[in-house]
Amino acid sequence: MENFTFLNPTKIVFGRDTETTVGVETARYSRKILLHYGGGSIKASGLYDRVCASLKAAGVEWIELGGVKPNPRLSLVHEGVRLCKQHGLGFILAVGGGSAIDSAKAIAMGAVIDGDVWDFYIGKGSPSDALPIGTVLTIPAAGSESSDGTVITNEEGWLKRAVGGPFLYPRFSILNPSLCVTLPPFQVACGAADIMAHLMERYFTNVTHVAFTDRLIEATMKTVIAQAPKVLADPDDYDAWSELMWAGTIAHNNLLNTGRIGDWASHDIEHEVSGIYDVAHGAGLAVVFPAWMKYVLHHDIDRFVQWAVRVWNVELDVFDKEATAREGIARLEAFFHKIGLGTTLASLGIHDDRIEEMAKKGTDGDRRTLGNFVKLDSRAIADILRLAR
Ligand code: NZQ
Ligand code: ZN
Repeated sequence: MENFTFLNPTKIVFGRDTETTVGVETARYSRKILLHYGGGSIKASGLYDRVCASLKAAGVEWIELGGVKPNPRLSLVHEGVRLCKQHGLGFILAVGGGSAIDSAKAIAMGAVIDGDVWDFYIGKGSPSDALPIGTVLTIPAAGSESSDGTVITNEEGWLKRAVGGPFLYPRFSILNPSLCVTLPPFQVACGAADIMAHLMERYFTNVTHVAFTDRLIEATMKTVIAQAPKVLADPDDYDAWSELMWAGTIAHNNLLNTGRIGDWASHDIEHEVSGIYDVAHGAGLAVVFPAWMKYVLHHDIDRFVQWAVRVWNVELDVFDKEATAREGIARLEAFFHKIGLGTTLASLGIHDDRIEEMAKKGTDGDRRTLGNFVKLDSRAIADILRLAR
């Protein structure tokens, strides 16, 4: 096991009606805030009205900035930074999913500097501070509600890039599983795929003696595998949403990579795909991850066998470990199909004409290889994308 320091400071407020506490939670930090959200789902569901009522009751004033798109864009971040500076706002409240939250984190960093926040995303300088943010989460997926990262897309060149730092952990996140009932099935499936991916990125490590966190990750994967089909079958199943929502947060709040070194190549490759084609992050991962697995399988077949046996209940074939491992991958693909996702680039409407471009962009600048489990150069990335056709 690697040395580690673990501190996740995000206060989680979980359960029914918890969004009514958002005003009180916010007022601890500022009474003049930016209220940031997406394309309108929070208005349709009535959540927006409840959040506004709670803010008002707590004496919090706000400036609003809606319109965050999935794969959130830099131009709206710039608009948010401008509003924060112009009105002297001291806090950002994101209501929505990973996109609204990541956009809020970007604005929070941009609001405390003179230059362009995009520089941090391309490795020009490192951020060291940000306005405090809080969230009301409406989809179990990205884990941004309790992560120290943000992913933004720059429309100029369609580059999707991530940056992180401990000052980006939200001060609080409100998780009411009832808010998920309005999610379209496709978004539910994308969220489940993303949660699985966050777990698998951590699971496939070269670090040895990580038996305890192996077991935690396996338990979290099994939870997603069991609960995602339940919420798809019955969107009113509060108990199943509760399990899935909490699993989604734990999957990405850094607890499960304590003492480990995760891989993250599949995420980086997916960011190239969604950067160019604007596909949903989870849908992209359902395509990239199985292909990555097929490509790196022989690097540590025993780890794949362990995963197949423990997570997917594959019967161990001691004479043919590869068959056992491949059956695990087949069951992962079957799970994605069962929840309504495709596992090929073609299923996303993507053909192979820009594979080389994505592979090259993925290793541009100082990122000459991707991943840690196996280090991938641009040729390897192109091979993986071709396996995903
Ligand atoms: O925009 P609105 O109208 O709110 O609709 C959203 C959006 O269309 C809708 N939605 C969300 N909650 C809903 C709802 N519709 C009805 N009822 C609800 N309760 O769902 C759509 C997707 O929302 P989005 O916020 O984009 O989803 P997600 O949470 O999956 O976030 C994806 C983004 O997070 C990034 C991804 O790259 C992607 O840009 N990630 C962020 C990470 C982080 N900061 O730690 C880690 C992840 O690996 C990921 O990369
Ligand atoms: Zn993800």
